[in-house]
Parts: sequence; C-alpha cells; structure tokens
Amino acid sequence: MTPIASQPADGSLTANAIFLTLSLHGEDAALDGFRDLCADLPSLVRAVGFRSAAAGLSCVIGIGSALWERLDMGARPQGLHPFRELAGVHHAPATPGDILFHIRAERPDFCFELASQILRRLGPVSSVEDETQGFKFFDNRDLLGFVDGTENPNGADRTAAVLIGPEDAAFAGGSYVIVQKYLHDLARWEAMTVEAQERVIGRRKLSDIEFPEAEKASFAHNVLTNINDDRGNQLQILRDNMPFGSPARGEFGTYFIGYAREPGRIETMLENMFVGLPPGNYDRLLDVSTAVTGGLFFVPGADVLDAIGAGRPVQQPAAKPEPAVRTDGSLGLGSLKQGN
Ligand code: HEM
Repeated sequence: MTPIASQPADGSLTANAIFLTLSLHGEDAALDGFRDLCADLPSLVRAVGFRSAAAGLSCVIGIGSALWERLDMGARPQGLHPFRELAGVHHAPATPGDILFHIRAERPDFCFELASQILRRLGPVSSVEDETQGFKFFDNRDLLGFVDGTENPNGADRTAAVLIGPEDAAFAGGSYVIVQKYLHDLARWEAMTVEAQERVIGRRKLSDIEFPEAEKASFAHNVLTNINDDRGNQLQILRDNMPFGSPARGEFGTYFIGYAREPGRIETMLENMFVGLPPGNYDRLLDVSTAVTGGLFFVPGADVLDAIGAGRPVQQPAAKPEPAVRTDGSLGLGSLKQGN
C-alpha cells in the first residue's frame, strides 16, 4: 500500500503558534493566488524552517466549505460543511473565514516570519478575519491555571483519531479542524474556590490528576467531552489549545483547536458543552469563557493540496477489483487481505 502523505495535522504540541483566519476575495485572481500559495506552501515552510530544525516549524492549512465549492475540485470531503452555530445555555457563534493557517514552532520568530510570508502572498487578495498568537504557559496550562492537553491520544491512536481513512478514500490522509476563540472572565473564575474550579474541569488543579469517575460532577468538562460510538468505543480528537492575551487590554483567552477524522464527534462535544447533556446540564467552563469565533475547515492531505495547487480535480481512487469467483466456492479472502 502506498503511504498517504498528510499535512502535519497530527503534529505535537509546540511552545508557540499563530492561528490565522482569512476570507478570500471574490474575484478569480484571488482564487489563482490561493492555488499558487497551496502549490508553494511546502517550499515556503522549508525556506523559513530550514534555519533551525530545533524550531520545528510546521503549518497546516484548512479550507472552509464555501471556498471548497469555489475551487471546483470535482469531489467534496464527506464531512465538510459550515460551522454550526449553537444557541444553548451559552452561544457558540459561527464567524466568517475561508482559510485557516495553523502555524506551529518552538520559537515565536519562526511563526511570525511564516505568517508574514503567507500574508505577503495572500494579503492583497484576502481579508484577515482573525490573527491569534498563542504561547505555551508554564507546564502546558491554560490561563485558568489547569494543565490542558493531557488526555490527547498518542501514537497510532492519534493517527486513527485525526486522519481520514478509507471511509472517504479520495480524501484519505486529510482531516477536519474546528476552531473557537474563547475569552475568559478571570475575575469571576478566580472568585471561585479551587475545589469548585476542579469540579468544573473534573481534575485536580495542581497535580492534574483526574477525579475518579464516581466523584466527577455530571457537568464536568471531562464528562461532557468524553463521548463514545454506538459500540462503546471512545471517540477521540486531537486538541492543541493555546493561551493568548494581553494583560494591558485585560484580555485572557484560550484558542481551542480540535482535529478529527470526521467533524461530528467535535460537534457532539460542543453540543454537550453548550446545550448540555441532558439539555440544561451544560459545561460550567462556559460561565467564565465566551466563544467569540467558530469555524470548521477541511485539511487536505498533501496529494489533494498538490491537486489544488495544480488546478487538477481530486483523483477518485481506483475501484477495488471484484473478487474472482473461485472454483472452490470461497471468496479467497486471504489474497484480498494481502492486497489491502
Ligand atoms: C479536556 C480546557 C474547550 C474537548 C480538557 C482539560 C482542560 C480543558 C483543562 C483537561 C486536561 C486534558 O485532558 O486536556 C479547555 C478550555 C477550553 C476547552 C480552557 C475553552 C475555554 C474544549 C472544547 C472541546 C474540548 C470546545 C471540544 C469541542 C476536550 C476533550 C478533553 C478536554 C475531548 C479530554 C476529556 C477526557 O477524555 O478526559 N479541556 N477545554 N475542550 N477537552 Fe477541553
């Protein structure tokens, strides 16, 4: 089987990130500019990143539903649709954006330089909807003081959670990403006791140890976001949340970013958080955290990114040959497995 090249969607947490959301202008020249950037993105990342391997620069590009239509690629990723606004106990808005760049590195200068180079190319043909510069805060804590990212899947589990597989073969190796920018009311959070904060998250604040199941509140963040499929298997996502803010402006936030092989599981988590499970039993994190943006993007694998750059339609994978009818009456499953 040929390995499928993916963008580094399942990459590791870094010390710095820039999240850049753009809306592409309507004219054809803008579309051409975007295709050119897709073609050049890998070499742009190499050019900026080669100065230091230790900086570990990477960039993931995500494409929104409306822009995918305009690209006219001949096929559509199964799970791609606009971000669904939620009006529950709390509100999760859908905000504009055609393109998401998730730029990560161990050093802020590498993120800054790549974002600058991207905007040099796309700035004239797009509008910046949001630019958030995230940073690592002590031992991977969010600005609420809790360690964030502990339960992320690793190794093969991570790949299985994040990358599209044979279920949408034309887009295998791709992914979906949902982003939301949250602003925290720190005064309100800090007025709570540490014990009350721990009940909201479902973990101890200092040690990061998870509460035993029986001691977790039904509204705890790690209860509402822990979901299973029909057969009881946990549906995992990869989060790379980053703190951001400005003490001078009194701005303290978390940029939520979640990757998954299909967006439905992230949407279920959001519904549990904002509407509640059952409805009304919502995530108390939202009493002190306001979502101010919301977007859903498809992350093409390297082959599809290449096709976008070249203006080529997406290749449908060759249909598997029908199993030959055997004279011994069997389907010859052994040989079929080898071919997989
Ligand atoms: C777990 C913070 C938003 C999904 C956690 C944990 C923290 C946290 C501290 C526990 C440690 C860990 O496992 O990482 C936050 C903050 C958010 C936020 C500050 C925004 C204000 C979200 C959203 C989703 C989400 C929007 C999904 C839609 C998860 C999941 C876990 C988790 C799946 C692991 C649960 C488990 O199985 O234990 N989050 N989170 N989070 N969060 Fe969030």
